[in-house]
Amino acid sequence: MSELSRRPGDGVVGIPVPHESATLHVTGAAAYTDDLSVSAAGVLTAWPVQSTHAHALVDVDTSGAYRVPGVVRVLTAQDVPGVNDAGVKEDEPLFPREAMYHGHAVAWVLGETPEAARLGAAAVAVQYRPLPSILTLPEAIATGSFQGVQRTVERGDAMAALAGARFVFEGVTELGGQEHFYLETQAALALRDSEGQYFVQSSTQHPSETQEIVAHVLGVPSSQVTVQTLRMGGGFGGKEMQPHGLAAIAALGAKLTGRPVRLRLNRTQDMTMTGKRHPFHISWRAGFDEDGGLLALDATLTSDGGWCLDLSEPVMSRALCHIDNAYWIPHVRALGRIARTNKPSNTAFRGFGGPQGVFLIEDILGRVAPLLGKDPIDLRRQNLYGEGQLTPYGQPVKDAARMPAIWDQLRAESDVDIRREQVCAFNDSHAHVKRAIAITPIKFGISFNFTAFNQAGALVHVYKDGSVLVNHGGTEMGQGLHTKMLQVAATALGLRLDQVRLAPTRTDKVPNTSATAASAGADLNGGAVKDACDQLRARMTPVAAGMLGADAGAVRFAQGWVSAAGVDTRLAFAEVAREAYLQRVQLFAAGYYRTEGLHWDGVRMQGSPFKYFAYGAAAAEVEVDGFTGATRLRRVDIVHDVGDSLSRMIDIGQIEGGFVQGVGWLTLEELRWDTGDGPSRGRLQTQAASTYKLPSFSEMPEEFHVRLFEDAREDGAVYGSKAVGEPPLMLAFSVREAIREAVAAFGPAGRSVELASPATPEAVFWAIRSAQAAGDAVEPGAASVLADARR
Ligand code: MTE
Ligand code: MOS
Repeated sequence: MSELSRRPGDGVVGIPVPHESATLHVTGAAAYTDDLSVSAAGVLTAWPVQSTHAHALVDVDTSGAYRVPGVVRVLTAQDVPGVNDAGVKEDEPLFPREAMYHGHAVAWVLGETPEAARLGAAAVAVQYRPLPSILTLPEAIATGSFQGVQRTVERGDAMAALAGARFVFEGVTELGGQEHFYLETQAALALRDSEGQYFVQSSTQHPSETQEIVAHVLGVPSSQVTVQTLRMGGGFGGKEMQPHGLAAIAALGAKLTGRPVRLRLNRTQDMTMTGKRHPFHISWRAGFDEDGGLLALDATLTSDGGWCLDLSEPVMSRALCHIDNAYWIPHVRALGRIARTNKPSNTAFRGFGGPQGVFLIEDILGRVAPLLGKDPIDLRRQNLYGEGQLTPYGQPVKDAARMPAIWDQLRAESDVDIRREQVCAFNDSHAHVKRAIAITPIKFGISFNFTAFNQAGALVHVYKDGSVLVNHGGTEMGQGLHTKMLQVAATALGLRLDQVRLAPTRTDKVPNTSATAASAGADLNGGAVKDACDQLRARMTPVAAGMLGADAGAVRFAQGWVSAAGVDTRLAFAEVAREAYLQRVQLFAAGYYRTEGLHWDGVRMQGSPFKYFAYGAAAAEVEVDGFTGATRLRRVDIVHDVGDSLSRMIDIGQIEGGFVQGVGWLTLEELRWDTGDGPSRGRLQTQAASTYKLPSFSEMPEEFHVRLFEDAREDGAVYGSKAVGEPPLMLAFSVREAIREAVAAFGPAGRSVELASPATPEAVFWAIRSAQAAGDAVEPGAASVLADARR
């Protein structure tokens, strides 16, 4: 076992503790970025001037704004001293000459009050010269509107395998985007001090990149910009890249006015300006043998990237690396391409393309199971990976045996078989309401595909009084990273949890950090925190040995005490810290971690980009109303693999929250755009909580059981744990598949059901109608399968 994963029996790692800010969260005392502006004297507010066209050349006349009382300054492209770009692909002008989507900010107004800034923005005169716009994936595909690189994952010979397969199905799968709807909208607060240093508070998952972009825009070195992230009221990937330009606007305003500038988008601005989960259009062919074994998959995936690239390329890479989900597919060819449309630039969202890849194979299996004459539960179970098999991109599926183990445990513990009999009986006796239970698995690769991002740093101080302050490069967005880091630090130093404090994330404490993303926050920063703490304990050990009159090898740090085997007295950690200081022992340490063993050829799409896979499975029981299409989530059972948990309560919260967020994406949340040719073409119609339906407590499963897969130590990861943040979102496919089967129960057996995504009540209603209409169809034989699936 590696030293990194060895866990002492008496540490605080793994115990269930509440989130470190739980009390502050529920009392409303937790401070978020914009709260800090209250104490910033003379603070100005920034307000955007948003395009009213989906695509147009713009000419901005700012003079009207200056006649509005309280307007201090209007920011335009001429004001940028450095580079007029907010992204990392040089395709994202901060102040555009060409508005690329409805809502695009073309100028910003700084006012003494939010009201002055708002009125000032309304008084900026913008002349538009409209250009043709592209809004949907089919439009983009038809006109060849693509951006960025196109990559292919390939193994074996998919064409030959399809030609020889007993059953071949063909179809198109379309799936919608998702608004992040973090409770705290995008926010930044920038100050410039008398030395010309910029201090930017930003609600960002990626402080180092925010720092870089601010520096680029201002034309100053990174060392002149410090970014701090206190905590976020949710990020979900939406604050991985989107905060940079907004922070740069605030910093530019601070530079030009010498005053603090706050920028906080209101909900509608946030929804109309910032990117979301990528919608996908996928055309596919899949081949099966006569027993239902997957043989081949040929697919072309097109994502809607929006107006610029942002993270669309890596999102597509992860999608391509997850089209297998948990299943062995011998022959694969999958092409990924990114459409350019006149919409906000789509970006990271929990799962980062993984959910879209997984969507495809789950959709295929759900659609074809009845055509193969297979029970979907058996079809999925039989196609799970086995030990020794490789993914289509060539990575061995480590611990593949966990997948069937988790599946079988879930099926047995949640009485799936008995309940399915009850469901059948219920359906037989109810003509207008139907129930179904479905199980779906998840296998999700952990690490950033881009190898360089898999590194992290920490800076840990032991003060003379024995108290400990931990800095690390990760950000807190509610996911409990800070709680886990406190547990790691306390365990590594042999302290109680209350002896360790965590400082806000700052780029002047730990530099060159990666985004807190890819669920890897605890793996990476945990490795770095533990490294720093291990160094400190190693330095303090000889001091303690001297004080105790024992061999260094006999010294133990545990629960706030330092002791030695065979010595009666024990020392408080603080006593050892004080003595170490007097002996001139360095009591602060920089920790560093990088994930070993990764290699990835992003052009050929081959290698082992992931340290390991996180596994899980969910069983969902739904009830569907034939008159309204409304769905009730009667019961959900989950077994999920987090390795040996770093923090059980946090992990269970992540599983529950991720799952429900996935259910929202798949069944409720629908982004609608005006795609007509009228004057509001390109406008987002669902731009507030009133029109964009989110899951709330009424959509929670009526019964919800989450179990952690036990004795699951992951060797080579910090204290044997696994990442948890994103994988459980994809367990929500169980709900979509259960809905599909409940819909099928309204029609004759053996029929394939196509379900729009999101499967809103409206979509479910129409699917039920078409299942009912299929009443007089013939039994499909092998020959009709292809034609049937081609409809
Ligand atoms: N949980 C909460 N409460 N809020 C969030 O914003 N983001 C998710 C996940 N869980 C998120 C969350 C996403 S997209 C990721 S990548 C991970 O948390 C990031 O944190 P981690 O790497 O520490 O798991
Ligand atoms: Mo998460 S989408 O990797 O921020």
